[in-house]
Amino acid sequence: MNRATYDGLESRFKVQYFNSIVGHKNVCLIGTKNLENQSNLAIFNSLVHIGSNPPLLGVIFRPDSVERHTYENILQTKEYTINLISEKDIAAAHQTSARYAREHSEFDASGLNPTYIDGFHAPHVSSSPISFGLILKENIPIQVNGTNLVIGEVQWIKYPEEIISSDGFADLTQAGVVGCIGLDAYTQGTILQRFEYAKPDKAPRIKP
Ligand SMILES: Cc1cc2nc3c(=O)[nH]c(=O)nc-3n(C[C@H](O)[C@H](O)[C@H](O)COP(=O)(O)O)c2cc1C
Repeated sequence: MNRATYDGLESRFKVQYFNSIVGHKNVCLIGTKNLENQSNLAIFNSLVHIGSNPPLLGVIFRPDSVERHTYENILQTKEYTINLISEKDIAAAHQTSARYAREHSEFDASGLNPTYIDGFHAPHVSSSPISFGLILKENIPIQVNGTNLVIGEVQWIKYPEEIISSDGFADLTQAGVVGCIGLDAYTQGTILQRFEYAKPDKAPRIKP
């Protein structure tokens, strides 16, 4: 596929094709609540690790050509949650991508239950295996296509203790967390092998 052929693709095919061919992705639900106490939940697959110290996560928001409730609520309240998705919740999670009116909470529409951590404004998903509470740190406009990279600093993490190994590794396969391909296919992860820290003078060493 050269660039001229790509540019000539039918627009919906192009979106499916380029969203999926770039690889397996993480997928999450972002929970927010505006200053009128209206909660909101929506699915995102552009979650990216920005750094561990301090713990930072980024999400890409599409251009604000239509109402973007999650984006607006984050800018308004500076607080939001990122919730990884459990296998049993994939249909409900997918449904949160529908364009509901601002007054209609996707928590109600999808049947996913909101829950709160004391002192934190934004709701998280009670059935999510792993949730993060974040405060907004930076909102970076991406000039080339009008999207925005929103970076938040993690304030708390909720997770099942038993998935954390003695070296700090979180085995998400034990928590039933799903990933995705493109915008409509949800996947299950499998660990093939863990390896020791790679060194130029050593062959790959399998982690016991
Ligand atoms: C699997 C999947 C991944 C998505 N990822 C993103 C994303 O990374 N960024 C984005 O702006 N929209 C993404 N969307 C679209 C939003 O979910 C959709 O625009 C939603 O209506 C936003 O809701 P809100 O207006 O309540 O924030 C994704 C949709 C699906 C189904």
